[in-house]
Amino acid sequence: MPFDRIVIRRPDDWHVHLRDGAMLKAVLPFTARQFGRAIVMPNLKPPVTTTADADAYRGRILAALPDGVSFTPLMTAYLTDGTDAGDLARGFADGVFAAAKLYPANATTNSAHGVTDIARIAPVLERMAEIGMPLLIHGEVTDQSVDIFDREAVFIDSILAPLLERHPTLRVVLEHVTTSEAVQFVRAHAASGRIGATITAHHLLINRSHIFQGGIRPHLYCLPIAKRETHRVALVEAATSGDGPFFLGTDTAPHTVTAKEAACGCAGCFTAANALEVYAEAFEDAGALDKLEAFASLNGPRFYNLPVSEERVVLERRPSVAPDLILVSEGDAVLPFRSGETLRWSFGGTV
Ligand code: DOR
Ligand code: ZN
Repeated sequence: MPFDRIVIRRPDDWHVHLRDGAMLKAVLPFTARQFGRAIVMPNLKPPVTTTADADAYRGRILAALPDGVSFTPLMTAYLTDGTDAGDLARGFADGVFAAAKLYPANATTNSAHGVTDIARIAPVLERMAEIGMPLLIHGEVTDQSVDIFDREAVFIDSILAPLLERHPTLRVVLEHVTTSEAVQFVRAHAASGRIGATITAHHLLINRSHIFQGGIRPHLYCLPIAKRETHRVALVEAATSGDGPFFLGTDTAPHTVTAKEAACGCAGCFTAANALEVYAEAFEDAGALDKLEAFASLNGPRFYNLPVSEERVVLERRPSVAPDLILVSEGDAVLPFRSGETLRWSFGGTV
């Protein structure tokens, strides 16, 4: 019996970029419409590095929420070589921080202030392990001589595996996994209960050939970059398994059309405008709609030791058209993933 209507606990998005200012105002309603909570990335300019920064940013997010929408931003700290472990621990104890994010310096957008050598933050990681604060990792090496399609797999071998050995109780989320190596690694450590992985909607649907289909498609360029089809298949298998370590994280990363369609275009796919519809397509294609709730609404809260949502949302199998350009400021806009295309599923709101 095909599903024509699915009701699931309201999902959370365990990896979003909400930005700030006019962009925040433009994109936040999309995330808050579908998701009850979201882990908010700290790579603003300048980055969110202290408890005070995060508290102020959380205030700006709440102020930008449309009236009557219930949504909880979960804040993260941007780790630098100079992170103050005391401030981080206080922010976690006070409920300001849900986690801390490791950007290897210069790995991706706004990561110039990131960590230059993981050994430098060993005392911070020790403290995080002690207090149970999760470390969220952008898992790519920054050595430009490593092929861009290999940077995640090399990171896992050369940095992540030794890191887990050095810090045997540290809880880690490998963010936006894109390779079968990442899936295998997470599965190999699953029994410890201390590793999770987010998977984006776009990495479930595109492989690297899509980025060059008929010409260069800058709106499909993100980091980590989409890999070969075999890797996409491994990600679909992981997401649709319903297994505990794998949970939803869109990595929705809005950039203006001007910034995307440039000689040196920014990395990021803006998927917040139709995230659940697109995930539903991927799960339906895999014959696994019955696993969507585990991936979207149950596994993440379990990892983060948070209650599952008591709200419910509905998805219906009726065509919806992904929104067109979303205006950010005069003369600039963001283009949603699959803009203008017809999607098979519609988001029916909370029930
Ligand atoms: O594609 C990406 N965009 N990957 C990241 O890691 C950062 C993000 C952004 O902030 O635009
Ligand atoms: Zn991201």
